Amino acid sequence: MSFTNETDKQKYYIEKCRELIAAKEQKLGRKLTACVVTFGCQMNFKDSEKLMGILSQIGYQETDDEHADLVLYNTCTVRENANLKIYGRLGYLSKIKEKNPEMIIGLCGCMMQEPQVVEKLNKSYRFVDIIFGTHNVFQLAELLYDRLIGGHRIEDIWDGTTEIVEDLPTIRKYDFKSGVNIMYGCNNFCSYCIVPYVRGRERSRNPEDIVKEVEELVSNGVVEVMLLGQNVNSYGKTLDNPISFAKLLEMVEQVEGLERIRFMTSHPKDLSDELIEVMAKSKKICKQMHLPLQSGSSRLLKIMNRHYDKEQYLTLVDKLRAAIPDIGISTDIIVGFPGETDEDFEETLDVVRKARYDSAFTFIYSKRSGTPAATMPDQVPEDVVKERFDRLLNLVNEISREKTKHLEGTVQSVLVEELNKKIPGYVTGRLSNNSVVHFEGCKELIGKIVDVNLKEAKGFYYMGEMVK
Ligand code: 5AD
Ligand code: SF4
Repeated sequence: MSFTNETDKQKYYIEKCRELIAAKEQKLGRKLTACVVTFGCQMNFKDSEKLMGILSQIGYQETDDEHADLVLYNTCTVRENANLKIYGRLGYLSKIKEKNPEMIIGLCGCMMQEPQVVEKLNKSYRFVDIIFGTHNVFQLAELLYDRLIGGHRIEDIWDGTTEIVEDLPTIRKYDFKSGVNIMYGCNNFCSYCIVPYVRGRERSRNPEDIVKEVEELVSNGVVEVMLLGQNVNSYGKTLDNPISFAKLLEMVEQVEGLERIRFMTSHPKDLSDELIEVMAKSKKICKQMHLPLQSGSSRLLKIMNRHYDKEQYLTLVDKLRAAIPDIGISTDIIVGFPGETDEDFEETLDVVRKARYDSAFTFIYSKRSGTPAATMPDQVPEDVVKERFDRLLNLVNEISREKTKHLEGTVQSVLVEELNKKIPGYVTGRLSNNSVVHFEGCKELIGKIVDVNLKEAKGFYYMGEMVK
């Protein structure tokens, strides 16, 4: 067969798999089920929606139960414990497969891009049927077809790609909100981070394709989009017709019917004044900024290859808060980077106190082989890291709690996301600044934007009351 483009090729394999699965269903006298489990970040979550979209077109019914006919783990490898989790869960899956030998187990995502992982899987995890990486997610139907007709294990991992395959099916977890990839990969090579090695070089999608996708989403009921990229602030630089991220936001803002725009992640080194201006005057861009700090020590930031220092970072935070009152700022911080001294760590605490984050994700440094930091001297002893980590967490929590108080008693517009998991008759929604509020309401409110009085700040969330 010859195809004019990759999308047509994959649609062909979806059809071929459909026939094979339909025949299996006939034989078994029941529908076949598929379960996609996502580990890691929003990017993986979005990839999983694409994977499930392909599987559902093939004829699989979606399930959360890992006793399914096909189970696919979309893996993460940003920290070592993410990998350990996968090996543990594979042990559990092998037990299920012993009872259902026809079951197909697939692994994909970031962890598969590491050669030593694949080596280990080849040696000790032979029951895995399909292995692929981050660059060929769109190929799932083709790989599954090869497995179904060949009967042998399929392994297809690409080193990199320049290709962006548009227009394949996806199944969205939520009807009213969706992630939208605007770029893939990362060119920054922060010295601790494995992402550039497993996700490849930065590639931006064409703005027209992005806007078209958003328009389609909105016509299907989506009111909030999250524009996704490892470093959205450098969006568009490598396109044939370069365009800034701020300009892309202005284009997306034009989409009629769209109510809210979020994005992540922003790299401080590329955050422009133009972006802050566009955010300040926008009616749709949420008052939220995720701005990873990593460390407050200018000395360490240099070794981390972050290209900004403590003062530049704090200036950015000041600018954001001045231009966009009530903006919610969140961050990522790593504790225990090689060579981190008490003084370095105090600098981090100092930035946390000054930036007054609304929320912060704190991580213990994890050595990722192949990254420059893995071989740096002076890896910090575990007990020192633990003590610093606890101090940081206490400070971060104390500030988040104080910050939540600021909006207590005000009325804010809230996108209702789901039924409350704990209190019957309640729903849970999000403010523009990404804070969560619980209030009395019914499932018909899900996906609607309503006004809510934030009656009581409860530390990291609010209890509210809908304003009629
Ligand atoms: N160890 C700990 N945390 C890491 N991150 C990235 N690499 C590592 C690592 N090796 C964190 C960074 C990043 C977030 C997604 O994960 O803080 O912003
Ligand atoms: Fe990793 Fe740095 Fe790229 Fe973020 S910007 S994915 S931390 S290398």
